[in-house]
Amino acid sequence: MAIPEELISRLRSARSVAVLTGAGISAESGVPTFRDAQTGLWAKYSPEELATPEAFRRNPKLVWEWYAWRRQRVGSVKPNAGHVALVRLEELVPEFTLITQNVDGLHQKAGSRHVLELHGNIRRSKCFDEDVVVEGWEDSKEVPPRCPRCGGLIRPDIVWFGEALPERIFAEAEQASAKCDVFFSIGTSSLVYPAAGLAYSALSGGALVVEINPGATSLSTEASYSFREAAGKFLPELVRKIPGKA
Ligand code: APR
Repeated sequence: MAIPEELISRLRSARSVAVLTGAGISAESGVPTFRDAQTGLWAKYSPEELATPEAFRRNPKLVWEWYAWRRQRVGSVKPNAGHVALVRLEELVPEFTLITQNVDGLHQKAGSRHVLELHGNIRRSKCFDEDVVVEGWEDSKEVPPRCPRCGGLIRPDIVWFGEALPERIFAEAEQASAKCDVFFSIGTSSLVYPAAGLAYSALSGGALVVEINPGATSLSTEASYSFREAAGKFLPELVRKIPGKA
C-alpha cells in the first residue's frame, strides 16, 4: 500500500511519538475481545455483570474465577508483528510513549519499554480494601485469596466499569499526547473515554494523527490519516520505511 511521504518524513524528524492501542492490536495474536471471550461456562454472563466493583462485592469468587480463566487464555498467546513493529519504532524516535487500553501485557512481552497501561494488567492483583498491589499471598484454599497485610479480599488490578483510571498514568498519557509530533491510534474503536480523548489532545497540540483500523471509527474523519488496515500488516511496512534511522 502507498504510505504518504509526509508521514515518513514527519516520523523521521519527530522528537516525540505517542501511540494509543486497543484490543485490535492483539486480535492477530488470537486474544479474544471482551465480548468474544464469553464462551463455555461463562457464556451466560455478560462482561458488564462481572467487571464491576459491585459484582465483586456480590460474588467475589465468581469474579475471581472469571479472571483466572481469562488470565489463563491470555497466558498462552504471543505478541504479533504489530507489537514487534512498535518495539522497533520506540528504538527509532527520541521520545516514545506507548499508551494501551489492553490488559494482556503483550506490548511488554514483545519488548516495548515505555508502556502506560490505562486499564491495568490481568496478571497483577491488588487488595480490594487498600487499593494497593499485592505481589504474593498465602496459598490457602480460599477464593479469592486474602491480602497478607490486612486480610481483605484480593482482586485483579484492572480498571472496572465505573472506576477511575490510574490518575498519574493517565496524566502522563495526556501530557505525552498533547506534546507529541505524531500520534497513532491503533486497533481501538475510539468509543471509551477518557482514552479516546487522547487523540483530540494530540490534534489540538498540532500533531499528525494517524489511525490504523480495518473498520471506520468516530476518529476516522478527524485523523490526518486513517488507514483501513490490520496493524500486524501495516505497522511493519511503515516502520521499515524509516530509512536513515533503520
Ligand atoms: N488491526 C487493527 N485494528 C483491528 C484489528 C487489527 N488486526 N482487528 C480489529 N481491529 C479493530 C476493530 O475494528 C475495532 O475498532 O480494533 C477495534 C477494537 O475495538 P474494541 O473491542 O472496542 O476495543 P477497545 O477500543 O480497546 O476497547 C476499549 O473498552 O471494554 C472496554 O476496557 C475495555 O479496554 C477496553 C475498552
